[in-house]
Formats: sequence, C-alpha cells, structure tokens
Amino acid sequence: MASLTIRKLDDAIKSYLRLRSAKNGRSVEEEVRVILREYCEGSPAPTASLTLPSTPAERPAVQRTGPAIGQASVTLIIGGGIAAFKSLELIRRLKERHIDVRCVLTKAAQQFVTPLSASALSHERVYTDLFDPGSEFDAGHIRLARECDLIVVAPATADLMAKMAQGHADDLASAILLAANRPILLAPAMNPLMWNNAATRRNVLQLRRDGIHMIGPSAGEMAESNEAGVGRMSEAIEIAAAAVDILRPPRPRPLAGKRVLITAGPTHEAIDPVRYIANRSSGKQGFAIAAAAQAAGADVTLVSGPVELRDPPGVTVIRVESARDMLHRVEAALPADIAIFAAAVADWRVAHEGEQKLKKTSAGMPPLQLVENPDILATISKLQDKRPPLVIGFAAETEQLIHNAKAKIARKGCDWIVANDVSPETGVMGGDRNTVHLLTRDDDNKIRVDSWPVMTKEQVAAELVAKIAKTMEKKS
Ligand code: C5P
Repeated sequence: MASLTIRKLDDAIKSYLRLRSAKNGRSVEEEVRVILREYCEGSPAPTASLTLPSTPAERPAVQRTGPAIGQASVTLIIGGGIAAFKSLELIRRLKERHIDVRCVLTKAAQQFVTPLSASALSHERVYTDLFDPGSEFDAGHIRLARECDLIVVAPATADLMAKMAQGHADDLASAILLAANRPILLAPAMNPLMWNNAATRRNVLQLRRDGIHMIGPSAGEMAESNEAGVGRMSEAIEIAAAAVDILRPPRPRPLAGKRVLITAGPTHEAIDPVRYIANRSSGKQGFAIAAAAQAAGADVTLVSGPVELRDPPGVTVIRVESARDMLHRVEAALPADIAIFAAAVADWRVAHEGEQKLKKTSAGMPPLQLVENPDILATISKLQDKRPPLVIGFAAETEQLIHNAKAKIARKGCDWIVANDVSPETGVMGGDRNTVHLLTRDDDNKIRVDSWPVMTKEQVAAELVAKIAKTMEKKS
C-alpha cells in the first residue's frame, strides 16, 4: 500500500489541510483520513466555509469566508507582548457576539501566538506581512483597513502606539492603521514604567486627540516578577464589550431635551414611630418607565416611595415615605414636559400620628381616625402655570376597569390613563408582567381605549415611552 507524505503536497493543499484540521480540532493526518473516508462513503469532503486557496494570481488579496449579512466585522491587530495570549480569547469573545474577525499578527506577536491558532479561532486567513505578494498585489493593507467596521489593536504595545502617533507605516500593522478610515480601539499593554514614560504619555495624548478609542490598561501584577502597576491589558470580555459599544449604531433618542417626572412605588403612612399603612406596590412598573424614558434621551426624575429596587442608571431618584413627602418633591421637581404618576399613593393617613408607639391597653383598641391624603395626580393636573403639557395617571382597579378608568381621567383632569387590573389572580402587584389598557384623548377630545396584550413591565414601559415620543413629536 502506498504512503502519503503531507510535507510533499502543494502549498495550497497543505494550507487548506492545516486550516481545516485546526478548525475541526484534529491532526492533519487525521483530517486526511476523514476526507478520504468521507470521499469513499460518498459525502462531500470540504466542510463549512473553508475553500481550497486558488493560485496567488487568481486569489483576492483579502479572502473572506462570507460574513452573514448585517454582521459586523473587526480587523484585530495582535501586537507583540505577553498579553497576546488574551487576544486569542478576544477572538472567541468577538465571534460569540456574531462579529467576524480577521487577524493581523505583527512580527513580534508571532513570538507569543501563532498565526495557526489565530486562524483556527477566527476561521479566517491570518495576515502577517506587508510585502506578501499573495495579499499585496491589490493593496491588501488598504482593504484590511477598510473592509471592516472597526480595527482593534490588542495588545497595543508602546512601540505600535508610538508608530501610530508618528504616522509610520513600515510593517503591515502600522500601514493598516495609517490607511484606516474606520474607528480604532486600542487595548494598551506594557510595563508600568513604559506606560508612565513621558514619550508614551505624549503618544497617548496625541492618539486620544486623533479620536482613537482606548480601553485600559488596568493595574495589577506584571509578567515580570515583583512588578506591579498600571499596564495590564484589559480582559478580553471588557475589550469585546468596548468594541460592541463602538459598533452599535447610536440609539434613537426621541425624548432628548425633554424633562420627565415619574412617581413610583407605594407610600408609607405612619401610624406611630414603628407602624404604618402601606400597600403591595413593588414600584417595578414606574422604575421600568423611568429607565425607558432615560434610554429615549429624556432627563428623568423619579420620586419613589419605599421599594427594594436599584436606581435606574442615569435617572435622578428621590426616595420618599409618605404621600405628603411625595407631593412636595414632585412640586419641587417641576417644570416638566411629561409627568407620569405610577405610584400607588395611599388614599388615607391617620389624622394624628402617635409620637410614641401605641400601647395595648385594657381600654380596648386605639381609635384610628383617617384623613384623606393629597391627590398628587389631580393637584398637578389642575395646576395653572406649571402643568406639564402631558400628564399621565394610572388606574389600578379590581373591577369595572375601563369604566372606572374613564371616570378617573375626567375626575383627575389628566390627559391619559394607563389602566390595569390588579386583582390578586392577575399577579400584577409585585409581579413582572402587566396587561394594560391605554386611555388617550382623540383630537376631538373623545376617549380612545387601546388594549395591549400581556407584556413584561419593561415592554409596557417601552411601548408607553414610544407612544409618548410620537405624541410629543406631533405637539412640537
Ligand atoms: O384614585 P386612584 O388612587 O385610583 O388614582 C390612581 C392614580 O392617581 C395613579 O396615577 C396614582 O399615582 C394617582 N394618585 C395620586 N395621589 C393620590 C392617589 C392617587 O397621585 N393620593
């Protein structure tokens, strides 16, 4: 039986076999056996996206394995530093996020990681030389710089950053960076003394001025024994997140420049220093609306009763206890363009709050005389000067939902009502889902009811904010 020496095969076939075996996690010999077995069994030999390279003259300079439409792509330049091993993980993190990755390894990087490992992980050809006739016959460095959505340099060594700051182009990596018309993200990694050197400081400043994005370096132990300080490359997951942030299209901000005031949660009405009247409101719906309005670009103030929720990022949160506190803080937060009253405000409080804890006595139970709390929604809806142009109330009902909600819109003087059934069997109070009906007014002031399907409270918030944004756009 004849034997086959892989070393003696054509370069193109060897290269194909190397790529295919690395992709499938087999040795080249095993891969050849699999191909022969598949051939004998009649199944097609080549797998997935690997194709046999053509001759250099036919081959395009930048071979791509065909990214899915709409996918982002990154050219990842791996510089020469011990942190280069983390760049292999970075390839995986980017691919997990459906980002195509094409790697460029500097000469120094190849002392730390091999082109083969980068190619196996990226499922793409790896580029190393500026003067590679296979890729440079049609200016491959220009294509590598332009046929991507972002260029990431990790690790970005002091030397690479110096070259960038000066505009050098004497190897493939620096030539790509100089030819780039795409955003560039650097993940610097170097010894702390190099990072703090005046020359590096100048280069970093220059690169920042040039609009280059940077992540890290962070502080920690160095590869050199007994050295620590700022210079460690950020973790792969952080670099991938920073890349995604740059790649993500800017979110629409339909409420930019608008002030939104929201109430949420229950109120606690003190009976004495240790007891209070409360309700089961969790505040989730109001907090979700605050987060959605903030994401839509609004300047949001959230006045919340006592709840166990974290402040939504970017929202000014004012924590209060009672209905009267809530009213004061709402009035102080005016003017606003939109006010949304999602709080389950206690309707009553005790007329005389005990200064000391009420005692059990033989005279029987202490009489609890109740008085009505201020109605915040009605108060703000009826303001003359400072009434927000759009005032929205909530109607949490356990019976005759729409009928009661319609009556409430008229009684309170608000513009819209979000009505929801809070009967215990719905699980709305404290739960994560909500079924709401939105009552708005037509141009001829007739009330219109839109019934939404059951949704998470975040989805309800997003829908409501979208509806508000549309209405505000029409008003302006
Ligand atoms: O009258 P009812 O409590 O059903 O009204 C509900 C609506 O009124 C909600 O928007 C709630 O935030 C608001 N409200 C208020 N102040 C009160 C009672 C209710 O702002 N004292």
